[in-house]
Amino acid sequence: MKDHMRFVQRRIEDETRDLLKKETEERVAESDLDPDRDSEILARIGAWALRRTLPSEVLGALKGFSASGNHALLLSNLPRPEAPPTPVHGFADEGPLAVTNALHLGLIRLLGLTPYAVGYENRGRLIRNVVPNPEATGTASSWGSDSEFFWHTDNPHLPFGGPDVNPRPYVPRYLTFCVARNVEEVPTEVMALETALDRIPEKTLRVLAAPVFEIAAPESNDLADDGARRFHGRTAVLELDGDDGPRARYDRGTTRGRDEAADAALDTWAAALATVPCRRPVLRPGHFLIFDNYRVVHRRDAFEPAPDDQARWLRRCYAS
Ligand SMILES: [Fe+2]
Repeated sequence: MKDHMRFVQRRIEDETRDLLKKETEERVAESDLDPDRDSEILARIGAWALRRTLPSEVLGALKGFSASGNHALLLSNLPRPEAPPTPVHGFADEGPLAVTNALHLGLIRLLGLTPYAVGYENRGRLIRNVVPNPEATGTASSWGSDSEFFWHTDNPHLPFGGPDVNPRPYVPRYLTFCVARNVEEVPTEVMALETALDRIPEKTLRVLAAPVFEIAAPESNDLADDGARRFHGRTAVLELDGDDGPRARYDRGTTRGRDEAADAALDTWAAALATVPCRRPVLRPGHFLIFDNYRVVHRRDAFEPAPDDQARWLRRCYAS
């Protein structure tokens, strides 16, 4: 079976990593830079240090990523600043994370993208701490751990966006991750949408591309003002003729068919996803991952978290 995933991977040389760390540390200095208040300053420092140190081939891969048709890009052996204890309740003192934040926002800048947050999730903060939050036990959420988080795209209840618009009302185009720790070695699984589509009969594809589904917001979203879960009441799971190829909005836990044929198509789709080849990178400190949330579905298994202060901790930022 063909794996359509176009996954760019680059490893930074040790010497480059050490120079990048030194240059970034010197520039963030002792100042208390916050990624929400000071995102511009952090991005400028990070982008400057990255441009000065990374080889031109890696800079080119970053710059060309969004127009390349590639699904994902993974950089490894970036600086690994010492991380404070994992903020398992979701929010961290961002001051000690300035080097990580400068590199994260600097990389998003070199990708030619804009980082953003939405008001109804993560208290409107730019960086989401993906941690095993004890309050999210039993939920399929970026704050969960004990439940399997089946294949999904993030915020699938929103419409698809386009270039050069305010990204907030739309499905986030890209998810980016830096890594504070992952001693549990939990893989972040990613699959190219086209690989899954190869397994779906034509008739089912037509149903999945019809507006016969209700898709609700994930558990990470706040409820709407009327106390109800936000949802898209009449939409398609697949859009097969987008400008950049097919795209999907899907989360098994929050997607329902509006009739029997739609539910049957969803069952076929979920069964196919469970058997299709995927990539399973174990994200570690020094890694940076970006993938296209319109053309990639992602998941993770349930896992047993390490003790709170050493538990898995990824740093996610939406970008468009
Ligand atoms: Fe997700």
